[in-house]
Amino acid sequence: MDHFNYVDGQLCCESVPLARIVADVGSPCYVYSYATLRRHYEVFAAALAGADPASAGTAPRRERTLICYSAKANTNGAVLAALAQLGCGADVVSGGELFRVLLAGIPPERVVFSGVGKQEDEISAALKAGILMFNVESEAELALVDEVAGRLGRTAPISFRVNPDVDAQTHPYISTGLKESKFGVPIDRAPELYARARALANVEVRGIDCHIGSQLTRLEPMLDAVRAVLDMARRLQAEGFALTHLDIGGGLGIPYKDGDAPPAPAAYGKAVFELFAEYEDLDLTLVCEPGRVIMGNAGVMVCRVLLEKQSRSKRFVVVDAAMNDLLRPSLYNAHHTLLPVIEPSADAPRTPADVVGPICESGDFLAKDRALPPLASGELLVARTAGAYGASMSSNYNSRPRVAEVLVRDDRYAVVRKRETYEDLVRGETIPKWVRER
Ligand code: LLP
Repeated sequence: MDHFNYVDGQLCCESVPLARIVADVGSPCYVYSYATLRRHYEVFAAALAGADPASAGTAPRRERTLICYSAKANTNGAVLAALAQLGCGADVVSGGELFRVLLAGIPPERVVFSGVGKQEDEISAALKAGILMFNVESEAELALVDEVAGRLGRTAPISFRVNPDVDAQTHPYISTGLKESKFGVPIDRAPELYARARALANVEVRGIDCHIGSQLTRLEPMLDAVRAVLDMARRLQAEGFALTHLDIGGGLGIPYKDGDAPPAPAAYGKAVFELFAEYEDLDLTLVCEPGRVIMGNAGVMVCRVLLEKQSRSKRFVVVDAAMNDLLRPSLYNAHHTLLPVIEPSADAPRTPADVVGPICESGDFLAKDRALPPLASGELLVARTAGAYGASMSSNYNSRPRVAEVLVRDDRYAVVRKRETYEDLVRGETIPKWVRER
């Protein structure tokens, strides 16, 4: 469910026509819907807390649930601030993300820090901020966290990210739970690592964590992983480890095109809630790190058709957005539904076209062989489901300034990130005198 719909033949975000936003801020741009992100957060949070999302006002049956939005999906400050206001925490994977979420007002005690290569300065900043816990991914990292905490005279709350060796059945680049993956520690080594952690002076064992991948479209692998981690938590508690938190990671998939039917957030939340209920005696706070499911369908990227060209065998639509603005099609062959901003007539002929950007690479495309109506130069097109891993993965490749980001709420909108200028592109560069010496 989202708030991007045609109203009188014009594609709108909530009550604002996208054409009006582009007339104001230019193209390309990202546009996010506040109502959508809020709804996604609330439905997800309610389901995991055991409340019935269909009947408003139902009291959650599980108070101890913490949603830590995975900031990497969309790190825009206004998005983070909106989620902070709703009571959401954050999952961060870098010092930069930590800086952003704290700036946006997410309380440090709702922040978890994941990632295989945390560096000293990042660990130190997180310790000083007082985050909920570090999801530690290796023995070497455990030693580093202990050392940095010791130096600062603090105790680092940690959990281990365990790798349950479950096939998440998703794109190989975003599958993380198999034993050959770089992530986490093998689940069968967990007891040994927890024992090691207990012997260290500056860490406090707080939880256990897993994350098996992203864009997961089947419940079974996720539930298998959670059950394996719950079983391990039971064993560790029996061995005297005072675990208080169990973090199930993120990963729930979303529909990108008609016919996609990933588990609904409510179904996923209910299944996890019920599984947790079987382990109620462990008295664990459930932590979850959703990214895509909150933001994916809360954002679109708008671009403009520059021209059409026809090769001997192919129709190309060249647009002003490129792989540097939305990388997912090029990197994962991902599908983003494309819609003209002016609703085409139902009987307009649709013929297959490659929609491509101006970047000098054949891999620069937004869509391949997509059935599209005739498109005139200047027409606006929207790539849907671009609110997660869209702007946050954009770059300046080909010296293209990063595009503007806009947040809409009802009939209001604001530019929440300005389009970069050419000056922004060279900011921070210097040309030493001697490069000009002959
Ligand atoms: N927690 C951890 C430890 C993660 O690594 C991730 C995502 C998440 C949570 C959030 O997963 P989500 O709920 O968004 O699926 N760039 C790729 C996705 C990469 C995901 C990386 N980790 C894409 O565009 O599909």
